[in-house]
Amino acid sequence: MKDQVTLFEVGPRDGLQNEKTVISTSDKVELIERLVRSGLRKVEATSFVNPKWIPQLADAVEVLNRVRIHDDVVYSALVPNLKGLERACKTGIKEIAVFMSASESHNKSNINKSIAETFPVLQEVVEAATDKGMDVRGYVSTAFGCPYEGEISLTAVAHVTEQLLKMGVYEVSIGDTIGVGTPKQVKERFTSLIGQFGSDKLAGHFHDTRGMGLANVYAALEAGIRTFDSSIGGLGGCPYAPGASGNISTEDVVYMLHGMGLNTGVDLEKLVEAGEFMERVLGRELPSRVLQVMKKT
Ligand code: HMG
Ligand code: MG
Repeated sequence: MKDQVTLFEVGPRDGLQNEKTVISTSDKVELIERLVRSGLRKVEATSFVNPKWIPQLADAVEVLNRVRIHDDVVYSALVPNLKGLERACKTGIKEIAVFMSASESHNKSNINKSIAETFPVLQEVVEAATDKGMDVRGYVSTAFGCPYEGEISLTAVAHVTEQLLKMGVYEVSIGDTIGVGTPKQVKERFTSLIGQFGSDKLAGHFHDTRGMGLANVYAALEAGIRTFDSSIGGLGGCPYAPGASGNISTEDVVYMLHGMGLNTGVDLEKLVEAGEFMERVLGRELPSRVLQVMKKT
């Protein structure tokens, strides 16, 4: 196995978007800085979606304007349309992510459009962002199953992935939005997608709703995937996907990868401190198992 794995930390965005507790901008900024201090180099910091849909991330501009900039750290944020890009441009952000679903009904409930209506909207975002010198990442949600439609065909997933890559995104993160995937399916789907698009164009984004998260990471690793999204403490969930719970926890995935002799560049103790900080902010225990074993408080 090639021994370097890139972790894309999505806790400050996917983790917090569903959080009911009001979290101050300073706590969000401190969380991001702690994540960076642990060695993470890719952090999805917030989201420029409609604040009426996701009130928790309404302070996106302030968060990005307050985090310290490091030459080797990439901050990213979700951008659903040109209005979102306009807001992102009020910050120094150099990377954004566009997102859509492989299932019609989840796409409609999440971004209020059909799949066909979404392509041109994202196309203009990718073009405008690229013209400004930004890198753009893509997400395909419900790639292993949909809360409304059940099974989603691999053909549908590949179609959306292909369209996003054609628009010019540098990588597509394949999302198990509601954590229904199982390792055999994950390995088969990634093997097929890698055959079509190449492993360097794909990432795995697993929610741990049914406890399959780490097994699915292992299966995707075996298929050849080397970039994974994860969330500090296992925070997270999509508010427009009933039953969606947190992402795989960054602490747990780092523990597993290091145990397999793979490099992440992350210092697990510092990462656990970031998880402990977030538990103090939220006033509750987070789902990460490694956090629960390693924390000092
Ligand atoms: P819409 O209501 O159809 O938008 O929402 P619209 O274009 O008709 O505009 C309506 C109003 O919203 C207008 O204001 C716009 O200016 C405003 P008004 O004229 O009524 O005063 N507006 C905005 N304001 C601020 N920022 C914006 C923006 N856009 C419009 N960007 C929209 C369409 C896509 C915006 C909405 O559906 C939305 O924000 N959806 C986002 C939902 C979301 O964030 N879901 C979670 C993220 S996805 C996820 O978690 C999955 C992932 O993790 C992968 C996985 O797990 O599978 C990525
Ligand atoms: Mg997600």
